[in-house]
Amino acid sequence: MRPGMATESKPSILFVCLGNICRSPMAEGALRARARAAGLDLAIDSAGTGDWHIGRPPDPRAIATALRHGVDIGGLRARQVEASDFRRFHHIFALDQANLADLARLRPADGKADLSLLLDLVPGRAGLDVADPYYGADSGFERTWAEVDEAARAILAKLASAADTGAPLRAPVRPPIFG
Ligand code: 4NP
Repeated sequence: MRPGMATESKPSILFVCLGNICRSPMAEGALRARARAAGLDLAIDSAGTGDWHIGRPPDPRAIATALRHGVDIGGLRARQVEASDFRRFHHIFALDQANLADLARLRPADGKADLSLLLDLVPGRAGLDVADPYYGADSGFERTWAEVDEAARAILAKLASAADTGAPLRAPVRPPIFG
């Protein structure tokens, strides 16, 4: 299912990494599970800046790690991020700083989504990347899960307080004038 437009009242959140087969689908799964447990109706999706894995399921190590935490992400399929995502989603979270820079370049002039680095929401982790586990040992996927799950909890907490104040989750990153 494609999540709703940013004009819907339901908060919509997109996670973006490089391949959309490791970190961002794990983040999507973690937030889906946390939101379901909290009884919150959110539109959640993930995408990659790259096109190598379009249509493929998450990496088997990502699926196995999420399953160990009770979350099934095996049905997700990779897609590439599009400029229209900046119109469709309220919040776009980059998993690392390279993803953030790529997204800032892709943002269209009328794209209103808040764009930020995922770990900026986690106290003590601002400015840090969720490291790419793709080329590393299996243990890297457990670390990824811990990081994206902590961020998922922070997103829910911020959404709760932003609903009170009407504030965005975080100040949007604006594109460079001559991007
Ligand atoms: P992800 O990991 O960005 O967390 O999905 C990667 C997956 C595949 C590749 C790079 C990173 N790749 O180069 O194919």
